[in-house]
Amino acid sequence: MLKIRNVNTYYGAIHAIHDIDVEVNEGEIVSVIGANGAGKSTLMKTIMGIVKPKTGTVEFMGEDITSASTAKIVKNGIVYVPEGRYIFPDLSVADNLMMGAYSQRFSAKELNDLMEEMYEMFPRLRERKKQLGGTLSGGEQQMLAIARGMMSRPKLIMFDEPSLGLAPIIVSEVFDTILKIKEEMQIPIVLVEQNAYKALSISNRCYILENGKVTLSGESAKLINDDNVRKAYLAG
Ligand SMILES: Nc1ncnc2c1ncn2[C@@H]1O[C@H](COP(=O)(O)OP(=O)(O)OP(=O)(O)O)[C@@H](O)[C@H]1O
Ligand SMILES: [Mg+2]
Repeated sequence: MLKIRNVNTYYGAIHAIHDIDVEVNEGEIVSVIGANGAGKSTLMKTIMGIVKPKTGTVEFMGEDITSASTAKIVKNGIVYVPEGRYIFPDLSVADNLMMGAYSQRFSAKELNDLMEEMYEMFPRLRERKKQLGGTLSGGEQQMLAIARGMMSRPKLIMFDEPSLGLAPIIVSEVFDTILKIKEEMQIPIVLVEQNAYKALSISNRCYILENGKVTLSGESAKLINDDNVRKAYLAG
């Protein structure tokens, strides 16, 4: 579904990701783990056309999107829920959700149905639909960011560190939601995480990034038992 081939991305002289090959297939959660600065967000931004790779190709559903605009990539069905959530603090929960749908031409009825679907999935957002985004708790803001991403009916959704800064109980809620998106809505997911254990537990396959390079990849169930992975990422 998503095919990244031999991608190299730079910020000026900084070579942020090297010769990256990554694939995402229908029905999968693919996780990307790695330390701070490993290049995880750069990989997502490259897929989204936010930064352009110097070499290599990004293909989505058979179409080369390497030099497509971010707007076009979103329209094609990839949604990116960035690090730090970036909801609109001065808009209500309902208006934040509406903003998520702007890239698609939905009818009023479709929009209503979508909102209803999101409120079913996130009852807490329904209770708070008139509240300003900026006054939600951290966990609620993360839920809003996820729901807003879902409002465009994406074909693929990418989460950048969705658990960052959240209390353990909320982290579990976020991961449960991600699993639901894959299982009930059949949307494949790319999950960037520093929480390696959670990421490996929830995903089908995983890529490990170190200094901008993929050093290891494979089935998550295997990697979770790999000695080197355990030592480096799972603290024993
Ligand atoms: N806009 C930028 N300009 C210059 N260098 C950048 C820029 N964004 C990222 N970098 C550098 O590229 C490298 C990869 O950064 P990236 O944000 O992709 O890492 P990351 O794996 O997402 O890290 P984290 O876990 O801390 O979010 C880092 O060395 C970073 O300093
Ligand atoms: Mg990052």
